[in-house]
Formats: sequence, structure tokens, C-alpha cells
Amino acid sequence: MPFQISSFLLVSIAILFLCFLENNFAIETTWEDINRHHQNFHLVQINSLLPSSSCSSSTKGPKTKSTLDVIHKHGPCSQLNNGKTKILPTHNDILNIDKERVNYIHNKISKNKKMEELDSSNLPAKSGSLIGSGNYFVVVGLGSPKRDLSLIFDTGSDLTWTQCQPCARSCYKQQDEIYDPSKSTSYQNITCTTSECTQLSTATGNEPGCAKLTNACIYGIQYGDQSFSVGYFGRERLTVTEKDTVDGFLFGCGQNNQGLFGGSAGLLGLGRHPISFVQQTSLKYHKTFSYCLPSTSSAIGHLTFGATSNNYVKYTPFSTAGSNTFYGLDIVGITVAGTKLSISSSTFSSGGAIIDSGTVITRLPPTAYSVLRDAFKKGMSKYPPASALSLLDTCYDLSGSEMVYIPKISFAFGGDVSVDLPASGILYVVTLKQVCLAFAANHDDSDLTIFGNVQQRTLEVVYDVSGGKIGFGSGGCK
Ligand SMILES: *[C@@H]1O[C@H](CO)[C@@H](O)[C@H](O)[C@H]1NC(C)=O
Repeated sequence: MPFQISSFLLVSIAILFLCFLENNFAIETTWEDINRHHQNFHLVQINSLLPSSSCSSSTKGPKTKSTLDVIHKHGPCSQLNNGKTKILPTHNDILNIDKERVNYIHNKISKNKKMEELDSSNLPAKSGSLIGSGNYFVVVGLGSPKRDLSLIFDTGSDLTWTQCQPCARSCYKQQDEIYDPSKSTSYQNITCTTSECTQLSTATGNEPGCAKLTNACIYGIQYGDQSFSVGYFGRERLTVTEKDTVDGFLFGCGQNNQGLFGGSAGLLGLGRHPISFVQQTSLKYHKTFSYCLPSTSSAIGHLTFGATSNNYVKYTPFSTAGSNTFYGLDIVGITVAGTKLSISSSTFSSGGAIIDSGTVITRLPPTAYSVLRDAFKKGMSKYPPASALSLLDTCYDLSGSEMVYIPKISFAFGGDVSVDLPASGILYVVTLKQVCLAFAANHDDSDLTIFGNVQQRTLEVVYDVSGGKIGFGSGGCK
């Protein structure tokens, strides 16, 4: 009996021990799995990628006297969606407009044409009907006394313009009261023979015109067949914030305007040309600005002119791609779920790359896109696929899970800089039943690569134009 008991005990202990070992082993692999998973995957509460119905104000990021709120055109923080200017495009519309913007950028170099008076009919016709002018706006003041205007900020254009009274030919509907130069004590026309007028031709792609009686310089700029602004080129006091004004700012006073500007009053041009806001204010802000685009359309980001302290930002030199407007970016590689994709660096260098605040979806060389998509699909294999939408061909139905694992994606830039994209920079959420990989392919590897605004979400993006470099920092805003 005692023997039986003890042997029984021994066997039991042995079994327990084995169980313990096995359990321990199981726990160990699970932890390893989890660790590896956490390094290479975002664990995301899928609802957090959807905008909420109310606006949540900004709490993060630099606040200098030259900091403006950045607001999404179609989100609940936007006043542009009210009453008379209510324009709420579908996601399909937004993505189709994005295709037009990319066509426009790819075709941008075109022959110049002379502007005659305020006529838009002599603007060269471009392929494509409309152009997305970017989704984010800021509010600045124009004139004395100042009028508040909501302007789309656009690193992909140079000329700043707003619709102007008396709207001699046509103005589209805008939410703010239309600026009237005759009610401002600080407005001046630019005359035709000045160097300011002459430089319009390289900024807009059209030769400026001249008003016969007053010798006022006439600009014209088009963003596709159906979007344009034509008017007088003027100087005016620009109020960036209550504490910060720019005198004698050159801008287009649009007398004939048409397009999908979403109820905004015009554009704030932040490109590289001498006529852009960045270059005109170089003595004041030293050609430095930074912004953060929020993770959803219901949050507020920021746009700051001048340097800020942000020691978490990593810098990569600008590349020479992108003509005289765009900011060139030196993309050297992409990593998905911890594995560097096998894409030769010449794939990115052949067409060159730019960063653009107005393009929604990043466009990659087709060779790079297919490798990225395959790696992403592999990481998403446990989720049911959903139908494609417009240019987005890799979509999932994530409505069955509250928390989802998304393969991490990081970009490597010249100067040994690697930038992790947050989940909001990887996915385009149409509905929870249709969540898509927010990348698309160009037609050809030799086409210009464009780093779009979904991928820039929540990153602090710092343009140090005089220093010849651009910086990225994680978590610049929510
Ligand atoms: C600017 O030129 C336009 C066009 O000739 C004219 O109608 C307007 O009165 C001028 N404004 C000023 C302030 O000179």
C-alpha cells in the first residue's frame, strides 16, 4: 500500500511536472510571439480610426505666436460644411479627385500662355476635369480691418489667392464673407511692369496679363479643366495670428473663380517658388514651417511658421525631384511587419519622389507597390477581404473585431532616417466593413512618387527649407 501510494504520488508529480514544463514552454512561446507581434504589428482599436461626430480640440504640439489650427474640410471641426456651402463628397469622390490631382502633378510642366483680361477661356486645358486642392485648411486674416478667410494650405502650390469682390466674372460659394479690396486701407494693385508681376509666369505656368486702364497685373492659374482662379495680383496685410502680421503680402485677388475648393475662400501656397508664402516671409520665418495633420477628420492639427523646439524630429535632406514647386523626398526603402521589402533603391530614384500635403493617398512605383501589398496581405490574412474602392485595391472587412493587428509599415529616407507610420497612416477607413491599405501604384516606375497626406497623419513634419532638409517626428498631434 505505501509503495502504491508513493508510486502513485511520484507518477502524479511527474505528470504535474511535465504539465508545468509544457505549460511553461507554451507560455514562453506565446510571450515571444506576443513580443514579436507587438514589435511588428499595431494593435488597434478599430473604432479609433473613425472620426467622431463632434470636434475634439487639439492638446498636443507646439504653440507659438505663429501657430494656426489645421482643420479637415469635411470633418465636424469645419465651419465650411454649414448651410450654403454644404458639400460632402463620398469617399469614392475624394479618391477619384485624388487621381486627378496626381495626374495634374504628373503633367504639371506645360507651355505658358498669356492671360487676357479676366477671361479663363485661354487657360490651357488640362486632362482631367477637377482637381483636389487638399483637404486641410487654416484661418488667416486679410486686409485692414482684417477679414477672416479659410484657406486650403497646400505645399503643392505657390500662389496664394482668395476670391475677391466684386467677383467681376464669377465666384463659387464660400462660407466666409468674400474679401473686398475696396474696403481695406492696405490693399494695393501690382502694376504690369514690375518683377513681382513677371514672376507669375513661372509660379502659375501662365504669362500674366495687364488691365488696360489701371495697368494692374492679372494672374491666372488652373488646377484642371474646371478649377481655376483669375484676377488681379495685389499686395495686402496678412494676419497670420492675432500677434503676428505680414505686411505687403503678394496674393491673387480672384475675380473669376471656379472649382472644388469645398467652401473655402482660396489657397495658401506653401511651395518652393519665390512667390509662395514660405519664400515671401523668409526674413520673418527663415523659410521654416511645420505641421501635423490629425489622425481623423474630427481632430485638429497645427501649422506653425518659423522654427520650434522639437528634438524628437529626425531630418532627411530634400532631394532635387519635383520642379520648382514641390519638395523632393529621398525614399530609399520600405519595411512591412519588421521585414525590409526587397525593392532596389533605383526603383525609387528613377522617377524621384515628393511630399505633398494635398495628395491623399501615397503613390508608389508599381514594382514597389506590389511588394508592399503582398507583404501587407500576408500580415492581414486572418481578416476577411472586402471589395476595392477607386484606386484602393486591398481592403478588409474588420467589422467582426474590436481590436485588430495591423502590420507596421516604416519608410526609410536618405540620411539613415526611418519613420514608422501610425495605424492611421496605413489604413483608409471607408466603413468598418471596408478598411483599405492606403497606398496605390503609379502607372509606371518612372512616374514621380508622391508621399501623401494619409501617410503624414499625426507626424510632426518640419520643412527646414533654408537648411535643405525635412524632418519627421512621431506623435506631433492626435
Ligand atoms: C486695381 O485694379 C483694378 C483693375 O483695373 C481696379 O478696378 C481697382 O480699382 C484697382 N484697385 C486699386 C486699389 O488701385
